[in-house]
Amino acid sequence: MILPIYIYGHPVLRAENVKVTPDYPGLQELITNMKETMYHTNGIGIAAPQVGVNARIVYIDVDVLAEDFPELKGVNMVLINPEITIDESAPSTTREEGCLSVPGIHENVQRIEKIHLHWQDENFEEHDQDIEGYLARVVQHECDHLEKTLFVDRISPIRKQLIRTKLNNMVKGKVSCDYRCKVAPARRKK
Ligand code: NI
Repeated sequence: MILPIYIYGHPVLRAENVKVTPDYPGLQELITNMKETMYHTNGIGIAAPQVGVNARIVYIDVDVLAEDFPELKGVNMVLINPEITIDESAPSTTREEGCLSVPGIHENVQRIEKIHLHWQDENFEEHDQDIEGYLARVVQHECDHLEKTLFVDRISPIRKQLIRTKLNNMVKGKVSCDYRCKVAPARRKK
């Protein structure tokens, strides 16, 4: 089932995300729905809070980028309870990012190129992997969602100022995107 995407300003994107255990209610269905929703919206990554569920689950499929990054061919992963260790000694790069929850905005974000990732897959098998390059960026972006952080929190103050109106509009529910979305509930007037 395709789920609506929760948009910038919705409190679910800033709420605490719980650790997931095998008895998490409806887990396999949720993962299936996250995948369907991500493909439907042409995303390359999605985190559970983006579909309104505050749980530590991420799905990534970067195969569409294989033309530019051959190492990404066929790469997709379900990350449950992912934990990132940043290699502080690694160089960082700046690249443009976007986010299904922040439609119409693309901004440069600086990120470390190399991380170590520990996670469980949908069968709760443990995995450990060093990840670099573009995939490391996508993983960091998605895991940021689990820490209540959006890519626009990581851009320069000047750029943030420039997109302020667009962001404020999203908070007020004025948003245009070509998929079903859910905006913040209207604030009560004083
Ligand atoms: Ni995102």
